[in-house]
Amino acid sequence: MSRKMKNKVLQRLKIERIASEGKCVGHHEGKVVFVSNVAPGDVVDVRVTKGRSSFMEAEAIKIHEYSDNRVSPFCEHFGTCGGCKWQHISYELQMTYKRQQVVDQFQRIAKVPLPEVMPIIGAKDTRYYRNKLDFTFSNNRWLTREEIDSGENFERNALGFHVPKRFDKIVDINHCYLQGGISNEVRNELRTFALKENLTFYDIINQTGLLRNLIIRSTVDGQTMVIVQFGEDDPAGIDKTMGFLKERFPEITSLLYIVNLKKNETFLDLDVHTYAGKDFIEESMEGLKFKIRPKSFYQTNSLQAYRLYQVAREFAGLTGNETVYDLYTGTGTIANFVAANAKQVIGIEYVGPAIEDARENALHNQLSNTLFYAGDMKDVLTDDFVSQHQRPDVVITDPPRAGMHEDVIQMLLKLSAPKIVYVSCNPATQARDVALLSEKYKVNRIQPVDMFPQTYHVENVVLLELKEQ
Ligand SMILES: C[S@@+](CC[C@H](N)C(=O)[O-])C[C@H]1O[C@@H](n2cnc3c(N)ncnc32)[C@H](O)[C@@H]1O
Repeated sequence: MSRKMKNKVLQRLKIERIASEGKCVGHHEGKVVFVSNVAPGDVVDVRVTKGRSSFMEAEAIKIHEYSDNRVSPFCEHFGTCGGCKWQHISYELQMTYKRQQVVDQFQRIAKVPLPEVMPIIGAKDTRYYRNKLDFTFSNNRWLTREEIDSGENFERNALGFHVPKRFDKIVDINHCYLQGGISNEVRNELRTFALKENLTFYDIINQTGLLRNLIIRSTVDGQTMVIVQFGEDDPAGIDKTMGFLKERFPEITSLLYIVNLKKNETFLDLDVHTYAGKDFIEESMEGLKFKIRPKSFYQTNSLQAYRLYQVAREFAGLTGNETVYDLYTGTGTIANFVAANAKQVIGIEYVGPAIEDARENALHNQLSNTLFYAGDMKDVLTDDFVSQHQRPDVVITDPPRAGMHEDVIQMLLKLSAPKIVYVSCNPATQARDVALLSEKYKVNRIQPVDMFPQTYHVENVVLLELKEQ
């Protein structure tokens, strides 16, 4: 099998199972074929998009037999929008497949003795569970095949999500099942207003247009933050847009805007202006309060984040006497969450403003036993740092998708804390790191948690305990 296979059509491929990243697997003449957007049990014709000596990647072009595992996707945008790729699979099976991904990655990559992987902690809310959505304005709406074939002229302005792998095309979203509250109304009514008032939608190629991006953040108790990014510094147009939102949606508790004349949509380095209300919203968890500012990270599924933190705290098994290191602490949410059960908690995080939020949250929650430090983990977590603080009894670590830097792992081996609680959104890198840590640690518990129903993403918590020497 080789690159020559590209564009070849393979007929009646039986889809066998789900592999990593949500791709499904079939076999053709003994070679693995990865196919997206199908379900185990389907029989499909596929076109090869990538041919390699040991595997192929392919796209489904015709479905002959639908798997019994399929359910009808509930969203009108399913298939075009890349948001909820697993809507065609029942939630029960999604949970089974997610747990299986953890099992597979740990068996394939970690290759260490493992306890049984616990059944995944599923979400009660499988729709409207996100507290943050990010929509893009564009003058280049994605047209369906039927629209193109009809030859008619269509409105090309859009407000919605990027088409997967297309930076320049936006699916115009009519209803999104990911965020509840007033999210759908705000987006749709703002678009209608902008079209009626002839406000310009952003042109990504020429970098022109007033309306650029819309972010909606919400809390479990119904506070809403709306941030509009403008691509032009046009005070009259900005006031018209923001004035509309203020008047039409008095329930917005934090109405903010940003003028962004840069090439990209990130705004960590830009000023955020308050048009109405406060410059933050506040999430609560077990009586703790977390201020969420426009630039702060907060787990995007608040209810499941609570479940995740409960698992981490339980695995940590704190008695009140421990020094806990919370690595990759973000805005200090886990540190705040476990502080009442520990002697002291030390949080480390790369992003300076997040550490300021973490300190403010701790103050706000009247926690006097937390300390936070900003910097790259491998540079902060050094012998000097450890000698200035107490050695940890428990390390909680929650790195980004890439996992931990090898220097950090070496430092953890050197520190030899009795327990490491490893939280991860990527079981593959987690399994890789666990293999390295297995030099001194054994894996005692593995608990997947579902933070993102309708997607293949899975969060996983592992308890590592020091082996007896
Ligand atoms: C998955 S988030 C963890 C967030 C936090 N534990 C929570 O639950 O809200 C990973 C965090 O690691 C931080 N980070 C990424 N690379 C880092 C590095 N090299 N050193 C320190 N922190 C880093 C990111 O800024 C991010 O806040």
